[in-house]
Amino acid sequence: MTDRAPSRILSLLGCRHPLVLAGMGGVARSELVAAVSEAGGFGFLGMVREPPALIRREVEAVRRRGIERFGVNIIPAATDRLLLEQQVDTILELEVPAVALFWDFDAALVRRLTDAGICVVYQVGSAAEAAAARDAGAAIVIAQGCEAGGHVRGTIPLARLLPDVVAAVDIPVLAAGGLARGDDLVTATALGAEGVVLGTALMAAEESFAHQYHKQRLLLAAASDTLLTDTFHINWPIGARVRVLSSAVAAGERGPDAPDRRVVIGEEDGRPIYLFSTDSPLRSMTGDFESMALYAGTGVGSISAIRPAADIIGALLAEADTAPIGAAAARDAANELASPVCYIGEMSGAYVGQLEAGEIAEEMTKLLGELQALLRNVAGHEVARNAPPFGPRSKALARWLAGLASAWPQSVAASQHIEAVGAGILQDHLGRLIPRLPDNDLRTGLSELRAWINDTCDQPQPQAPTPEPA
Ligand SMILES: Cc1cc2nc3c(=O)[nH]c(=O)nc-3n(C[C@H](O)[C@H](O)[C@H](O)COP(=O)(O)O)c2cc1C
Repeated sequence: MTDRAPSRILSLLGCRHPLVLAGMGGVARSELVAAVSEAGGFGFLGMVREPPALIRREVEAVRRRGIERFGVNIIPAATDRLLLEQQVDTILELEVPAVALFWDFDAALVRRLTDAGICVVYQVGSAAEAAAARDAGAAIVIAQGCEAGGHVRGTIPLARLLPDVVAAVDIPVLAAGGLARGDDLVTATALGAEGVVLGTALMAAEESFAHQYHKQRLLLAAASDTLLTDTFHINWPIGARVRVLSSAVAAGERGPDAPDRRVVIGEEDGRPIYLFSTDSPLRSMTGDFESMALYAGTGVGSISAIRPAADIIGALLAEADTAPIGAAAARDAANELASPVCYIGEMSGAYVGQLEAGEIAEEMTKLLGELQALLRNVAGHEVARNAPPFGPRSKALARWLAGLASAWPQSVAASQHIEAVGAGILQDHLGRLIPRLPDNDLRTGLSELRAWINDTCDQPQPQAPTPEPA
């Protein structure tokens, strides 16, 4: 997987792996950004509403570790205008290479940053917002599915949003929301993402600034323990929803006696933390952590230990790299077909009714496009409420795609835009193609794929449940 990493993201961000640390406010400080960067990923400092002095301190701390490529995240809609101006001035003065923006779209700010040569990354919850970000000059968009931890911009599950955003813009798209495992990277990539954004999974890192209480709560939780709520609202636009671990406060069982009364539940360096504030428990806080916003995405069930960020990233990449189904057979076949002494030439493909190398490449382009269309269809139907974004059939299908794409990489780019196909069309295509393939391994691999599609995708699709109330 790593050697097939999409190069546009790697060159734009200047990292080795297409893994991006979300700019989590409070949580993603210099220690975590540096650790992610040293492990080959790319990190954003979460600086929402932070004073310029803290931004400067954290940027300098990252640079002291010898890291030049990193970013800062700010959120205009959740920040007082004057403070926002100061934040932007500080970012420009420090020549921060990348800025991640989120929430209400601010085209003027995007232009100001891009004019200064900054790589602007916009996190969006819809294809329309992605197109607006692209038009304003953003270099990368993050498609955030409603499975994400923290503030959730849209209402669309990642499996449906991601293909729509990929189709809407020609700039690189990163996937976010509930992603925590290697097969999430494989599946998001197969659906057109050029990398993934990790929030919750890296909040559980030793280097994150989240309080131990929050990290321990992550270890015990499953996806179904998360929920979307607008209960935690102080300092954010009205109605903004967050995904948190369920708690008495999140469930609406605890509130102040009078609606407008602010109740102090904690403290950070003399600053009160109020009930219903969007602050999550940090190392620097004391107080009633269980009553604070315990952000978590639906990938939380995959977190079983607090580990160094490098271990989390290493494990994810290793899992993504494990031999995709059918990959070896496809790779051997592709190598053989590319060989100048290939026996097909000697035997004359036309005579035995077999396909020539060029025809096989054409067929593979078509096949990969059909597989991707089937994946979009299957993934869109596997969506479930408060669950990780990708179901088992999508993940298996994505592995097949990854295996074939590793042998025919040029076919993937050419095959992106095939509209929906049913499993039957693919089976027919495979049925006609397999007997005409000269290579035994490829015939076997594709026969296995055909049998798998027959067993798992040809069944009537269950009606997709409504994901989340808007
Ligand atoms: C603790 C926490 C804090 C977050 N804070 C921010 C933030 O300040 N700015 C932002 O753009 N996104 C923020 N997010 C959302 C992330 O950008 C991203 O969409 C999300 O983490 C992806 O889902 P995941 O947590 O399931 O990986 C936060 C997420 C979490 C979990």
